[in-house]
Amino acid sequence: MKKKIIIGNWKMNPNTVDDARRTYRSIRNLSKRLSNVHTVICPPFVFIPLFKSTQGYPIGLGAQNVYFEEQGPYTGEISASMLKGLGVKYVIVGHSERRAMGETDEIVSKKIQILLQFGIHPILCVGESVHDAHGDYLEVLKNQIKNSLAKVQKKYSSQLILAYEPIWEIGAKESMNPETILEMSLFVKKVLSDIFGHDQALATPILYGGAVNFRNAGDIITKGKVDGLLVGRESLNRPGFSALLKTVDSL
Ligand code: PGA
Repeated sequence: MKKKIIIGNWKMNPNTVDDARRTYRSIRNLSKRLSNVHTVICPPFVFIPLFKSTQGYPIGLGAQNVYFEEQGPYTGEISASMLKGLGVKYVIVGHSERRAMGETDEIVSKKIQILLQFGIHPILCVGESVHDAHGDYLEVLKNQIKNSLAKVQKKYSSQLILAYEPIWEIGAKESMNPETILEMSLFVKKVLSDIFGHDQALATPILYGGAVNFRNAGDIITKGKVDGLLVGRESLNRPGFSALLKTVDSL
């Protein structure tokens, strides 16, 4: 059985170095006791150098963003090479919170290309803003995936991770029901299969994100049949995230 991938997206949290260290250590120590879960933590950039001690622990270090140029006069930006040098193996791209700040499919596509060039796994987030009755949302989703991956060569597709995150579920109280998650993840696989072929599509992990917590995680994985979860708020709640990891590990 393939390990489930659980990604903690800390967003712009926590406020202090001490808090970040404490949260990270508790997850890192627990990760040693899990055999069916691969945990990835995506803290804000400034905390990444503090967490280099992932070596020896089955935990991955990720970032929440990257710039698409290799280096140069880009004030405030962070390159793929800098992240790689700090041990970052995963980077979230196309998160709806960044899309709301102007990140287009074209920018996402460029970010994916630079990440692949540096051997970093892009975690491509896609999701519709409304689940309309006519099914137009399927077209929205398909275009997001196709545009973002148009320039990715098939041989690199195995490095991709895809996270389906319906926008209204992010920060919501309740997650999408597992039956709909299953339908949507099958749709995402179908689109991937059109781009890269059947085998590659089956090999690409599809995650679900949006209001995941320790109570609903088990059902989302077993009934929604996804390969993992992208977790926001609950990844900063130490007891909640530990319970979530243990639940998924025991499935
Ligand atoms: P949430 O966020 O788990 O707090 O809903 C998920 C995300 O933004 O990836």
